[in-house]
Amino acid sequence: MAEIELGITADMHVHLRDGKMMELVAPTVREGGVSIAYIMPNLVPPVTTIDRVVEYKKLLQALAPKTTFLMSFYLCKELTPELINEAAKLGAIQGVKCYPAGVTTNSAAGVDPNDFSSFYGIFKAMEENNLVLNLHGERPPSKDEDIHVLNAEPKFLPALIKLSQDFPNLKIILEHCTTKAAIDTVRSLHKENPNCKVAATITAHHLYLTIDSWAGNPINFCKPVAKLPEDLRALVDAATSGEPYFFFGSDSAPHPIESKARHVGVCAGVFTQSHAIAYVAEIFHAAGKLENIKKFVSDNGVAFYGLSSDDVISKDTVVLVERENYVPEIIGNDTLKVVPFRAGEKLRYAVEW
Ligand code: NCD
Ligand code: DOR
Ligand code: ZN
Ligand code: ZN
Repeated sequence: MAEIELGITADMHVHLRDGKMMELVAPTVREGGVSIAYIMPNLVPPVTTIDRVVEYKKLLQALAPKTTFLMSFYLCKELTPELINEAAKLGAIQGVKCYPAGVTTNSAAGVDPNDFSSFYGIFKAMEENNLVLNLHGERPPSKDEDIHVLNAEPKFLPALIKLSQDFPNLKIILEHCTTKAAIDTVRSLHKENPNCKVAATITAHHLYLTIDSWAGNPINFCKPVAKLPEDLRALVDAATSGEPYFFFGSDSAPHPIESKARHVGVCAGVFTQSHAIAYVAEIFHAAGKLENIKKFVSDNGVAFYGLSSDDVISKDTVVLVERENYVPEIIGNDTLKVVPFRAGEKLRYAVEW
């Protein structure tokens, strides 16, 4: 294998935060081999206004002039169908992220996944404007209802199915899916309805990790948690399959090392941005499926979001090269340190622009 041309790559699920963390990680999108990044809105407070999302994008663009940023709103009571219409008309957002309250970082203002009915006006407006609904697909933990980190995603799947039936023309993404049950559900929705608008993103780290990888190592702890070996096999199979409704969304989620390396309240999130494409390439290599990597990290996501070359800020393309690529122990500076995924290890691929 010499080189693989990946074209305009896309990471459709990225956390870049704000302030000093944003300054540190925004440039790593390009370093990791990504052209287009879909930015998550779970700042404090969440991104819910046009002014805020426009300002946020401007700050990101100044830090990373060649990266194309796609922006999103945080689904909550402050949103209205009128606001969605206006934001869509301005091209200020490409979608809306839905966090069930209490399942992950900065999700307190999120929704109750048992009852989406109060948001149906917003979903209708999104459907009419061709915006994407990004679902964090977990039910909140409940001892009474027997919901916990291992079944929170399977227990969410009926809500996904209902939404896809109630809004057949709404583009819906089950983000960062982690279970065989989720993969099977997305495939069966497409089997039943070839025009189905449901897709799923898969992270880089969930193509490596299982439950044993994070039990005892908070660096590998994220939400949804990595599951069982049979789930891992299903994720690798889906990602490497080339099927158009599976594509890359890293969910790279940086936290300062002090927020990971502690014994209470460990923050969920794995930072993969700086080596994003290289982590993925290693998996495709091991599966003998490198011929499908461009579909996963470029074509499928770009097609699902309906992007054209006019939407892309830089026409620079990415080439995957087989070359030793060292992951540093720490990314950062004296005051802010982030531990990247697989810190201190050598990867066998790198990217060139
Ligand atoms: C083999 C390869 O590249 O396919 N490795 C090698 O030749 N060094 C097998 C492998 O991936 O381990
Ligand atoms: O692990 C995660 N971290 N999962 C999420 O859904 C949110 C993210 C974060 O923002 O830290
Ligand atoms: Zn999420
Ligand atoms: Zn996320």
